[in-house]
Order: sequence, then structure tokens, then C-alpha cells
Amino acid sequence: MDVLVVGGHGKIALRLLGLLAARGDRARGLIRKPGQAADLEAVGAIPVLGDLEADASLEAYVKGADAVVFAAGAGPGSGAARKATVDLGGAVKLTDAARALGVRRYVMISSIGADRPEAADGPMLPYLQAKADADRHLIASGLDYTIIRPGSLTDDPGTGRVNLTTTLGNRGPVTRDDVAAVLAEILHTPATIGTVAELFNGETPVPEAVNSLHP
Ligand SMILES: NC(=O)c1ccc[n+]([C@@H]2O[C@H](COP(=O)([O-])OP(=O)(O)OC[C@H]3O[C@@H](n4cnc5c(N)ncnc54)[C@H](OP(=O)(O)O)[C@@H]3O)[C@@H](O)[C@H]2O)c1
Repeated sequence: MDVLVVGGHGKIALRLLGLLAARGDRARGLIRKPGQAADLEAVGAIPVLGDLEADASLEAYVKGADAVVFAAGAGPGSGAARKATVDLGGAVKLTDAARALGVRRYVMISSIGADRPEAADGPMLPYLQAKADADRHLIASGLDYTIIRPGSLTDDPGTGRVNLTTTLGNRGPVTRDDVAAVLAEILHTPATIGTVAELFNGETPVPEAVNSLHP
């Protein structure tokens, strides 16, 4: 399977690319800084140079993919303008490129709170609004989406056990290791198409949690 992970040098993305490459997938990561290419190659992934914000279209990178993953983010230090160009604009460009090329499978890293952005304040408000709008655009596109909304991300070692739930509005932490493991499993589990789920540290083994996710 050829998978393009956008935001390819992100902390979840690098973990995911490594898992996909180890499984024998063609794991491609979109990065905008050539200096990051070696880190992708070190996990067995193929670096693809491009910029979510500067490039008018992502079609050149999406071409040939069987699935795309949105793992980019403007980051906590960024203002509302970059939430609009990366968290919303980048995700929308990826949706539109996938749709134009007939690449049907799209896995989105969204966020807890995107079900009710209006409940947030401060910098979280434009962030969650961008995430909510990006999710809505993807759902409306008709593509084969799975939208995962992780809790607060940590760099603690993964446990291989999670709480993956379609009941929205929860809070809690989740390791980036376990988010990557869940995304890798989802990419090979078509029954998850059409679902929106929150993801936390938990007790259910990842394959079992993903296998019980269906619309
Ligand atoms: N932090 C949390 O608690 C939390 C909770 C729920 C969901 N999330 C979401 O989880 C996702 C992944 O998180 P993470 O911690 O793995 O992210 P991360 O390490 O901050 O990675 C984000 C990546 O996006 C890339 N990026 C930014 N602008 C770009 C552009 N114009 N073109 C191409 N790439 C660009 C960055 O590349 P550069 O190095 O070039 O900047 C970076 O590699 C994000 O969507 C985030 O919003 C986070």
C-alpha cells in the first residue's frame, strides 16, 4: 500500500511512517525542509518535498497513493492565521487533491474538542474551529474517511492498549506511540471507514479496539 503522510516529520508521523515501512508499505512523508529527509529515511520512509501552505495544490504528491494521512499541525505557538493555513487549509487541500485524483482513503488526525469548538477559549478556539471545519469538509467530500481525535498527546512509551470510542466529548492523555499504532491498523481496516472516534490511553489492545470501530 502506498501511503502519503502529510506533515511527515511530525512526532506522530515519524512513528507512523516507521510502522508502515516495517510492514512493507510504501511509506511516503511530505516535508517542507530538506534537512528533515534523513530522519524519514532512517525509519524506512520516502521523503517527498512540498509545502502545505505555499503549494496551491497537493496533487503532484498525492498521485500514486492508495491512502493519505493528515498529520500536520501549525503547533501550539502559532497564531490564528496559521491555524487557518495549516490545520484547516492544509487538510482541505489534501482532501481536494485526493478527491480530484480518485484516491479514496483519507485518515485524519483531528483533536478532542473538535465536536464542540465553541466551548473553547483563547488559542484553542481557532485551533478547534479549524479542526472541526477540516473534519466537516472531509466528511462532505464523500471520500472514505476515518477521523481520529486524540486526547492530550504525550511522549510516554506506548502500551499497545487504548480507549477508542465513538462517544465524543471526553478528556484524557494518549501516547503518540499508541496513536501511530492505531493509525497504522486503521489504514489496513476498511471497516473503520465513515467513523469519527476519540482516542485515549486505555485497556483494549490496539487491534481489538480498531476492529470494533465501525459506523
Ligand atoms: N498536542 C496535542 O495534545 C494534540 C492533541 C490532539 C491532536 N493533535 C494534533 O495531532 C497532530 C500531530 O501532532 P504531532 O505532535 O505529531 O505534531 P508535530 O510534531 O507538531 O508535527 C506537525 C508537523 O506539521 C508540519 N508542518 C507545519 N506546517 C507545514 C507546511 N506548511 N507544510 C508541510 N508540513 C508542515 C511540521 O513541519 P515543520 O517542521 O516544517 O514545521 C511538523 O512536522 C496535529 O494535527 C495536531 O494538531 C495534537
